[in-house]
Amino acid sequence: MSDLRVALLGCGTVGGGVARILLEQPERVATRSGRKIELKKIAVRDISKPRPDCIPASLITRNVAEIFADPTIDVVVELMGGTDIAREYVLQALMAGKHVVTANKALLAEHGVELFETARKHDRVIAFEASVAGGIPIVAAIAQSLTANQITAIQGILNGTSNFILTAMSEKGMSYSAALKEAQRLGYAEADPTLDVDGSDAAAKLCVLAQLAFGLNVTVKSIERFGISEMNSIDLKYAQELGYTVKLLAEAWLDGKDVAMHVAPVLLRNTDMLAQVRGAHNAIQIMGDVVGETLYQGAGAGEMPTASAVVADIIDLAVGRAQATFQAAKLWQPSGKGFRLRPS
Ligand code: NAP
Ligand code: HSE
Repeated sequence: MSDLRVALLGCGTVGGGVARILLEQPERVATRSGRKIELKKIAVRDISKPRPDCIPASLITRNVAEIFADPTIDVVVELMGGTDIAREYVLQALMAGKHVVTANKALLAEHGVELFETARKHDRVIAFEASVAGGIPIVAAIAQSLTANQITAIQGILNGTSNFILTAMSEKGMSYSAALKEAQRLGYAEADPTLDVDGSDAAAKLCVLAQLAFGLNVTVKSIERFGISEMNSIDLKYAQELGYTVKLLAEAWLDGKDVAMHVAPVLLRNTDMLAQVRGAHNAIQIMGDVVGETLYQGAGAGEMPTASAVVADIIDLAVGRAQATFQAAKLWQPSGKGFRLRPS
């Protein structure tokens, strides 16, 4: 089979990790894909910034247009973040006949209907495993493994940065601002970390999960959300003394034809499984009407865990799995699938 040629848009925390896997583990990736995966170009904003040593300088470009114009590139991997330029580039990639992989939950939550309509129109696929919960295969779990079920409830820690901050404040006595700085240094936070701490990033991920579970088209603005920026160490200490842990939870549950959704810091008993999720880890409980309760836990942010999910999407495209899932799942249909968001 012919090689699959890939271009990255972005070479920051996640893009750097994806490049590392493709360039340092080519045999593994080729074996799993049944064909060679060639990394052809990497678009960035600033070509003078240092990049991982494994990346030849010849791959780096500022010229995104040449990627869309190159007929040999099969897959564009959007790892820039943001919703405006990213939307424009993803539309251009699809219209140029390229499949798209993205880790950008904000983009999907805001523009999912338009992007998926464009993908269907051009017979292309958008794969997005890395957009929710970093390295945890939660998209595949819902879109593939739980399809015998009607999902009835989702409850999760979906933002690694805020979980890292809450853990560092309660276990190490770090201040809120020092913990946030450390999360930024470790590559967990968004370019605008307000999105992490005000609940917007978790809400965007909940929008993606609600699309998978309920076929619900919902944007971040319509979800009631509270963040952690008002939390202080005293709140967390008192909670601990009473046997509770504070976690930023994102929740969605079915109530007849309505889906209720919100993001908020809540008190969990220390014995609760979600209370024990520490650092930048995420965890998601999914309730299905056939399977009952299932739980997924692991690294929710960071370079290599997220790159693991992105490369899995590239391999799924190479073997045709992503195409099959995309066809079957019928995501971000303009009319939705009959459920509606319950007004808060
Ligand atoms: P990042 O470290 O800020 O990297 C962004 C990259 O995009 C940089 O290489 C930047 O170029 C490039 N870029 C930005 N605007 C561009 C433009 N107009 N044209 C070309 N390149 C552009 O971001 P990140 O943490 O890797 O996150 C990327 C995406 O993955 C976001 O959607 C984020 O939400 C998502 N995500 C992140 C994580 C995580 O743990 N970090 C986990 C899951 C999902 P320069 O390097 O030249 O500035
Ligand atoms: N900023 C995000 C987080 C990255 O902290 O969870 C993973 O999506």
